[in-house]
Amino acid sequence: MSTKLAALVSVLADKPLDESKKDWLVNREREVNYLKNVVSHLPFGILGVAGETGIGKTTVLNFVRPSNVFVLMVNISLRDTMESILYDLLYSISSKLEKDKDVGNYSKECKEWVSKEVATLKGFSLGVTLFANAGTKFEKSIAPRFNFFVAREKLGNLIKKAVQSKGKFVLIIDELDKEKKEDVLKVIDALKAQLLSENLIVIFSLPFAIYREYVADRMRWNEAGNLENVFKDIVFLEPMKPLEVKEMLIRRLKDYLELVDTEALELASDFSDGNPRDALWILSKSVYDNIGEKKLEKHHVLNTIRKVVNEYFSTGFSLTENQKKAINLLKDFKGPREKILKILQENGFKRTTAYSVLNQLIEKRFLIIREGNYKISGKFKFVDF
Ligand SMILES: Nc1ncnc2c1ncn2[C@@H]1O[C@H](COP(=O)(O)OP(=O)(O)O)[C@@H](O)[C@H]1O
Ligand SMILES: [Mg+2]
Repeated sequence: MSTKLAALVSVLADKPLDESKKDWLVNREREVNYLKNVVSHLPFGILGVAGETGIGKTTVLNFVRPSNVFVLMVNISLRDTMESILYDLLYSISSKLEKDKDVGNYSKECKEWVSKEVATLKGFSLGVTLFANAGTKFEKSIAPRFNFFVAREKLGNLIKKAVQSKGKFVLIIDELDKEKKEDVLKVIDALKAQLLSENLIVIFSLPFAIYREYVADRMRWNEAGNLENVFKDIVFLEPMKPLEVKEMLIRRLKDYLELVDTEALELASDFSDGNPRDALWILSKSVYDNIGEKKLEKHHVLNTIRKVVNEYFSTGFSLTENQKKAINLLKDFKGPREKILKILQENGFKRTTAYSVLNQLIEKRFLIIREGNYKISGKFKFVDF
């Protein structure tokens, strides 16, 4: 890539920010400071950071680094079983601490133990697939199993040792936001006992659905809300405002602003519905689509948006005539439900049809709520139906 626009690709790369990219951070001071405060003052407990993917959870978590506490961030991914999650967590924590002067030795021991266990398990399942074909039968009793209890004990010991030597210990478990709500709840439930210990704070990144449930639990005063019992608090990351997304883009493009039309940035911001990842994605895609141009202009981004939306509809997703008509009528609308119903009825929709079309568009996320008002998602605002 030798053209000018190609230079934009690297500054638009989608990556969580951290201290080294502090200049690119927009807003979120409130959430970061809140978490820093809680982490410094709470004696122990489990916290969550929730929000849709791409909204900035990892970024916020990367800035929760109060000076008086020891912070460790790990990723775990859910596989088939609860046991494997426990192995994964123990492995991640011990790998990160194996060079630590205080707990390095024990960490190494834990890491090696997990590696050995996994090797045995893998070797066995490989053996099964190899020999099963050859007609060999395996007795159930000789199958190696996860040592769930040993793993849990080791995790408990490792955490205890870390807390003893570090004082306040903050463990951030990221990436669970990509998983299904039920699975995440199971993991947290399984680990709860190990994670509730003096001087240990655990922060999970969580999918949006868990936040919704947490709020509902909190409101049911007389029942013992499950989530409320586990989480001390869950911080919810709202979508950004359109101006904030634009600012995010400008900060990244600071040295190249003569190559990009402001309106192109506004369009990307509209498309994103306040999700910084979506803004970076559509703008990068627009750059690739127009890599030979001298400047990225509004109509370039518009074409890319239309292409993306067409691809979406060509995968089999479709709208009814009524839904299309309603979207076209509401493109520049922002306001409450009742007003939508009024507009639809003024334009020939029967009352009951207006109700059901409204609900369909909300359910399909063509109509979204931003700052208390309904509006057409920026993904579909610039397309003619
Ligand atoms: N407050 C912010 N200011 C600027 N850019 C942000 C902010 N939050 C997120 N981003 C950018 O948005 C993208 C998604 O952020 P990330 O933290 O990975 O989200 P999540 O963990 O919720 O999926 C990243 O490219 C990141 O740089
Ligand atoms: Mg993340």
